Amino acid sequence: MDITFLLNGETVELANVNPAVTLLDWLREDRSLTGTKEGCNEGDCGACTVMVTDQGGAKALNSCILFLPQLHGKAVRTVEGASSPDGKAHPVQQAMVDLHGSQCGFCTPGFVMSMVAGHANGATDHDTQLAGNLCRCTGYAPIIRAAKAVEKHPVPVWVKDKPDAAPAASPMLPRSSDELAAIYAEHPEATLVAGATDVGLWVTKQLRDLKTVIFMNGCDDLKQITVTDNEIRLGAMVDMNRMGEALGDLHPSYAEMIRRYASVQVRHAATVGGNIANGSPIGDNPPALIALGASLHLRKGDTRRTLPLEKFFIDYGKQDRVPGEFVEAVSFPRQADRLKCYKLSKRFDQDISAVCGCFNITVAEGTVTQARIAFGGMAGVPKRATQVEASLTGKPWTAATVQSALTMFAEDYAPMSDMRASAHYRLETAKAMLERYFLEDQGQATNVLEVSA
Ligand SMILES: Cc1cc2nc3c(=O)[nH]c(=O)nc-3n(C[C@H](O)[C@H](O)[C@H](O)COP(=O)(O)OP(=O)(O)OC[C@H]3O[C@@H](n4cnc5c(N)ncnc54)[C@H](O)[C@@H]3O)c2cc1C
Ligand code: FES
Ligand code: FES
Repeated sequence: MDITFLLNGETVELANVNPAVTLLDWLREDRSLTGTKEGCNEGDCGACTVMVTDQGGAKALNSCILFLPQLHGKAVRTVEGASSPDGKAHPVQQAMVDLHGSQCGFCTPGFVMSMVAGHANGATDHDTQLAGNLCRCTGYAPIIRAAKAVEKHPVPVWVKDKPDAAPAASPMLPRSSDELAAIYAEHPEATLVAGATDVGLWVTKQLRDLKTVIFMNGCDDLKQITVTDNEIRLGAMVDMNRMGEALGDLHPSYAEMIRRYASVQVRHAATVGGNIANGSPIGDNPPALIALGASLHLRKGDTRRTLPLEKFFIDYGKQDRVPGEFVEAVSFPRQADRLKCYKLSKRFDQDISAVCGCFNITVAEGTVTQARIAFGGMAGVPKRATQVEASLTGKPWTAATVQSALTMFAEDYAPMSDMRASAHYRLETAKAMLERYFLEDQGQATNVLEVSA
């Protein structure tokens, strides 16, 4: 596979690239650009953050789970390229020095690159921008002070990269869903790579060898978000940050859950198609989408089919998808917002759900007319609470109805105990989430971030 991209402003052309080489390894081992650090090598710490600019703008990404072919046609800037070619520090670098934002310095290049990308985008939500960067010694206050101090500084001209609008064709890097369908039908044994936030870890942690790989990042038509009066349709390659922005006004609780999906770096990479196709029982999107009554659109060659999303998840590790078939899009009806998504995890930011409960309950004249409730983390697949739904539907929307529905959770779910939560805790917390939905719907404020005696 031949690829080309900009690295700190210089064109790089690579022939016969091994598809499983990460940008981090290549930078450090082939280019001796050791400013980019390896911490966790699994997307969790941000030490390896670089800025990647594509047609959608500048993004902070974790280079440890970014494969080289994903960069075709883009522009990469590492910490070595944050300062000007004649050595002038980027304003965020200067602010980090002036405001004591670094001690041992191991995390600093990653923080600096997250801040460079945030600054390039005019971001002022620094806690969110930096939630994917871990620092063990400085403490975050001086770092946030540095980020704030440069808010008004102009973006230095040398970090304004111009990526290639039309990079040359390269095999296994389709540029549209039609090209993808043709290549995948020819190579149904291939591994599809969307954002690589799962596949990257197969390589860095499980040391898996990827043989035939098809990279989907060039398929721009799969990145479309279409909102009509009746429907919302998300292409499979829509990433989590764009998805959160698109859902902000339509389903704010869903968008808020996405804000807690990993970190800015991971959200720039992870796609809705990948989050569904991986079949994980603890992915955050499937329960929300199932609660919204979503349909999944699959394609193999020229053949397309659509199924209710919940039917896609057959069993743990088993989905209704044949070799050569890929997720093209997911769509759901447009409705008045009744959706609440409750993500329970050990940390607020950058953590996978122990339980994720999504509730979409319609009430007319005091009676429940429709209930769609789905959970992640309660079974081997994302699963609807059909018995709970049935016990609510047609009943008055009262505390008594809710109390009686709580008993049905044990009919719907027999969760397991694991490192994230015990079976008992999962079941109890699922019930508490329905109570929370009811109380919030009655106008009672709930606060689950503070503990009071
Ligand atoms: C640090 C970290 C934190 C995370 N936090 C969360 C979190 O809070 N919530 C959460 O839900 N997940 C989380 N994840 C998991 C991960 O982000 C998701 O599972 C992600 O959505 C996968 O999407 P991707 O585009 O990166 O998929 P990839 O890694 O590229 O692919 C995943 C799988 O799906 C297949 N695939 C991808 N796209 C398609 C398609 N269109 N059609 C068919 N098959 C396809 C691939 O072949 C592969 O088998 C986290 C991951 C990391 C590394
Ligand atoms: S090394 Fe930790 S996120 Fe990449
Ligand atoms: S300065 Fe030491 S880890 Fe951040």
